[in-house]
Amino acid sequence: MTMRVPFVDLRTQYRQLKAEIDAAIAAVLEDAAFIRGRYVEAFERAYAAAQGVRHCIGVANGTDALYVALRALGIGPGDEVLVPALTWISTAEAVSQAGARPVFVDIEPDYYTLDPHCAAERMTERTRAIIPVHLYGQPADMAPLLELANCYNLALIEDCAQAHFARYRGQLVGTFGRVATFSFYPSKNLGAYGDAGAVVTNEDDLAYFIRIFTNHGSLTKHEHEIEGINSRLDGLQAAILSVKLRYIHQWNRQRLEHAQLYSELLADLEDIVLPRVRPECTHIFHLFVIRTPQRDELQRYLAENGIDTQIHYPRALPFVPAYRHLGHRPDDFPVAWQYQHELLSLPMYPELTQAQIHYVAEKLKAFFVHHRRRAIRP
Ligand SMILES: Cc1ncc(COP(=O)(O)O)c(C=O)c1O
Repeated sequence: MTMRVPFVDLRTQYRQLKAEIDAAIAAVLEDAAFIRGRYVEAFERAYAAAQGVRHCIGVANGTDALYVALRALGIGPGDEVLVPALTWISTAEAVSQAGARPVFVDIEPDYYTLDPHCAAERMTERTRAIIPVHLYGQPADMAPLLELANCYNLALIEDCAQAHFARYRGQLVGTFGRVATFSFYPSKNLGAYGDAGAVVTNEDDLAYFIRIFTNHGSLTKHEHEIEGINSRLDGLQAAILSVKLRYIHQWNRQRLEHAQLYSELLADLEDIVLPRVRPECTHIFHLFVIRTPQRDELQRYLAENGIDTQIHYPRALPFVPAYRHLGHRPDDFPVAWQYQHELLSLPMYPELTQAQIHYVAEKLKAFFVHHRRRAIRP
């Protein structure tokens, strides 16, 4: 019998929290506190406390968060910034937006995050910053990256869009670099009901710049200290996020349990590579990503059986049309090049049921049994 397994299920989560969310939205409407105001301040305080940092500045989305972080660090024309070859385009886009040049770095074969050895090879005298992405919820290898940053005086900006409250050797991601950025895109582990993002930092000067820059260069209306942009977290999203922040650790635990169940059920399936968790790290499984050379066929088979999957990402960034002008070849990024054909993200969200996970595992096994039978047919 076919079971439906959507890739994410935001509706079920909303229904579970409906009373609290609806009350939070109603309070913002009653107060007409749409832009800035107490709901935004309350969320910023709560998020900074949860992260254990001095400052959290809400912004319009995770892409702007990266852009304003770069601007706060004074990165611009003539500068190069190291970014992973496999990530969502925002990581590189923000660098170009700031006027600097994104320099792609291959990923680690086991953990899919920016490879510190490859980063060292891509350094030039123009390299000013490095943006590790804690991809899929797995912390990047921060120890060697910090060493590299310290050695060459590079700014380290952590892109935590996919890794709210993941930990590297016990320490929360977002607390290693000078500044870290978050996305609260609806399907993220901590997701708003629209676009939203934040920047966190312990440095007062950076925080001040980001706060005024994202609000037309001013703290007080009509007093523009600098030219800025309009990128603000709005009151409704902040109020929603404050409710959801209370549940994030529970949701992350549920994701981890689901990942463990998937891994147990699929442990014997030699045809796929399961996600590996970096030693001494807490992966928060924003995505549960497997690898197989039969990826496209498998994806079709799962879809025929009611299971939605996605690919993160079908093309590594150096090979998307937007960066074709850089003239990269597959052997510039051998790992990212190979994996873009093999990665497949299975359904993963806190509300996923054990029955759904069993069903997905069963269908994965069935696919490879058919596949092998076909392969040995004379
Ligand atoms: C790794 C990464 N960086 C940045 C972003 C940008 O966030 P947003 O969509 O909120 O602009 C995202 C999410 O979409 C992401 O996954």
